[in-house]
Amino acid sequence: MIVTLLGFMGSGKSSMGKMIADNLGYNCIDLDIYIVDQEQMKISEIFKQKGEAHFRELESKYLKELISRHHNLVLPLGGGTPCNEENWQFIKQTKSFYIKKTVDELYVRLYTRRSKRPLIAPLSDKELKAFIEHRMKDRSPFYERADHIIEIKAARKDSVNYITDIIQPPDSY
Ligand code: S3P
Repeated sequence: MIVTLLGFMGSGKSSMGKMIADNLGYNCIDLDIYIVDQEQMKISEIFKQKGEAHFRELESKYLKELISRHHNLVLPLGGGTPCNEENWQFIKQTKSFYIKKTVDELYVRLYTRRSKRPLIAPLSDKELKAFIEHRMKDRSPFYERADHIIEIKAARKDSVNYITDIIQPPDSY
């Protein structure tokens, strides 16, 4: 089974992905990291040298490649990956989870983690808040297509165990 994690930048998809994969005994491949490995370029360099449209093409190409080549994989997606109709042809073949956070929670998490993310690196604090609000409005309908919506109120470990139990119900152990 392929498990995809959807959500805005900074929602914790990558770190939760590793924890879920450990629980399940699956591999975890982060789509952004896979793109960097395949292209031998950082995401920020791809955006700078080739533009966002090219990055989106790479994102679709490698999403398709990973989903068609792997079994038993946890795959955290990039924040923009689900916002493309064509990508849903592949995401819908997986068990998908939306890691949902509020605008305020995302702002707090992204405030100090801007530098490696080309879409938000140049923004001031005020612009960052407006960016998150605006993008979340556009993106939420795509994220909410996921099979499961996970609102993290408890400790991260509890949410990870909750997701693991959905994928592999305890009775089936
Ligand atoms: C993006 C999110 C990033 C990365 C790229 C674009 C987006 O991934 O794919 O910078 O459009 O939201 P994370 O969500 O893992 O930060």
